[in-house]
Amino acid sequence: MIQIFKDVFHLTNKTLSYAMRVQEKKVLHAYWGSALGTREDLVCAAVYAADCGTSRDSAPQEFGERGRGDFRDPAIVCTAEGIATTEFEYAGYEILQKKPAFSMPALRGGGETLVLLLKDARRKLTLRLHYTLFEWGLARRTELTNEGEEEVRVTKLASACLDFPRGAYESIHLSGRWGAECIPTRSRVLQGLRELSSRRGITSHQHNPFLAVLEAGAGEDSGAVYGFNLIYSGNFSVTMDGDERGGLRVNVGCALTDGVLLSPGETLSSPEAVCVFSREGVGGMSRAFHNLYRKHLIHPRFQGRMRPIVLNSWESVYFDFDEEKLLRFIDGAKGLGIDIVVLDDGWFGRRDLDDSSLGDWFIHKDKLPHGFAPLIERCKQHGMKFGLWFEPEAVSPNSELYRAHPDWAIATAGRTGIQMRNQLVLDFSKREVVDYLFDAMSKVLKENDISYVKWDMNRAFTDVVREETYFGHVQGVYDLYERLTAAFPHVLIEGCSSGGGRFDPAILYYSPMIWTSDDTDAFERMRVQYGTSLCYPLETMSNHVSACPNHQTGRTTPLATRGAVASLGCLGYELNVGALGEEERAEIARQISRYRADAACILTGELYRLCDPFRENAFCEEVVAQDGACAYLVYCRPLAQVNLPAPRVKLKGLNREGVYRIEETGRLASGAELMYMGIAIDLPAGDFASAVYHFTRTD
Ligand code: GLA
Repeated sequence: MIQIFKDVFHLTNKTLSYAMRVQEKKVLHAYWGSALGTREDLVCAAVYAADCGTSRDSAPQEFGERGRGDFRDPAIVCTAEGIATTEFEYAGYEILQKKPAFSMPALRGGGETLVLLLKDARRKLTLRLHYTLFEWGLARRTELTNEGEEEVRVTKLASACLDFPRGAYESIHLSGRWGAECIPTRSRVLQGLRELSSRRGITSHQHNPFLAVLEAGAGEDSGAVYGFNLIYSGNFSVTMDGDERGGLRVNVGCALTDGVLLSPGETLSSPEAVCVFSREGVGGMSRAFHNLYRKHLIHPRFQGRMRPIVLNSWESVYFDFDEEKLLRFIDGAKGLGIDIVVLDDGWFGRRDLDDSSLGDWFIHKDKLPHGFAPLIERCKQHGMKFGLWFEPEAVSPNSELYRAHPDWAIATAGRTGIQMRNQLVLDFSKREVVDYLFDAMSKVLKENDISYVKWDMNRAFTDVVREETYFGHVQGVYDLYERLTAAFPHVLIEGCSSGGGRFDPAILYYSPMIWTSDDTDAFERMRVQYGTSLCYPLETMSNHVSACPNHQTGRTTPLATRGAVASLGCLGYELNVGALGEEERAEIARQISRYRADAACILTGELYRLCDPFRENAFCEEVVAQDGACAYLVYCRPLAQVNLPAPRVKLKGLNREGVYRIEETGRLASGAELMYMGIAIDLPAGDFASAVYHFTRTD
């Protein structure tokens, strides 16, 4: 509901409120958090009582700007004729009955939308600030229109700007590196400006476009936590500016470092930012993101549906395969319960190593003289489907595509492009490039019965001379996704970027699952998955059980633990299952059939993180079905210790009076016992031991 009382705007539903006020033509931020109720007099009194500061520099601005007395990090910076200051004033509002679609992925659905109009009369610029409240959070975005006669260079346009009142705050962000994405870092917010960003053209392994702001004392289960996430797949900027009075400004948006040019009459739309709020700590914030994304981001075709169980060829054969070897690989999967065999890198052009052929999306005839037909046929015989890897945005200098169209790669004129992994990035801001990829990929998908595509993107951008190229490339990626998903609706596209280098909500808008990390070691994965779950639901994380010793770390972990960790997401396999002994094969078949039975709970339930694997010698996650009928718990203990009692875990989110059967022991226990006394975890001996428990409500 949107309430407007004189100069007060109040967006509210049963759980949340967002309030602003117009004062001396400036829109001031008054409140974001738990619902304030809908009584006009009380809401207005609360908003008027909000601390508005005494100067422009301390007033909580709804959209901070530069050069007119607010010295904090601005939400907008644009220059024309050398003038970089702006003075936007409130000029009216609109209420739209439905959240309007625009040119980028955004939350789906959404009703009443408030659009605030702000104008800089002198500079002839108009801002439109969009707000749509959902059950679990708020979608915000910004449009800037150039109504003047001069070109305007926009170097910053935040999707959301939020001024927090004086307080003690902490932040959590997800940073990392290749092989170790989404590692949570918690820090105190100090006075000064801090930026988390990507300038790599992709969202990056280094920083995820996510931020949590915690009120002092908030923890996993309690306290006020504000979450931010940007629905965008390119350069982004998230800033925290702690001011001298204990206030905090957060800006979230794409990064336009060198600026994009806005011609007269043109409008620039920011991507959409998602803001969630929870009083139930970091865990509550995560569940808000999960529920919001399940209902309003993931494509309806995949909502609430189990993702296929994949057997991926990469770590089994890498580039070294031919038809016979692949047929044996497929035969190995027979009878295990695998849904799809995915042929990874190496099937196209003359790709025998990572030094050629990206862009040549036709079958490597030396390796596969009869094409995919025999492989697909064999999959079908075993009741499985077939999937394929592509890296649409890449081109190898040693490829037919590059020889025909060297100008399609992003490059600085007169310089040799920097190669990473022996490849260049194609310029998707050019329509003809995206057209070529659509045609080339469509041909493969039309001529072969393919149900699954893994869309990879394996390098950062270099040699970009115009900021518009970054922005345009991301639009081109969305365009190709739109066209492919429309033309091949039955094909599931898994996102990937050397693992989780582009794990962001815009990719999730199209791809219902993303390869979480190239590090498949179970111990490392506990941490990566723990961090990723801060923002993203389990059913979006693609997790594979791989061979031991692990190819990335050299570590050996029990198959049961690898399966248990991978089960907290979309379970898959990436090892030569045909070469395993009977016992291991039986274990895999058991894992898969058990996962199928548990999938509804795991993939749609409420997640509780019961241990912090960065602080404890334990990883423990519990998922409780939305209807409370069952719960699933995975416990892993990385290092064995002597002379200690069994670890005891207190469950969460159960019904206190409910009666649950612990499937592994057959014993009945009350919800109260499980939550307040906890259960002792029965672990096998040795390092990296794990245990899995199922709880079924019986009353
Ligand atoms: C990336 C992906 C891997 C694999 C290789 C193939 O690194 O993340 O899963 O597909 O590329 O080259």
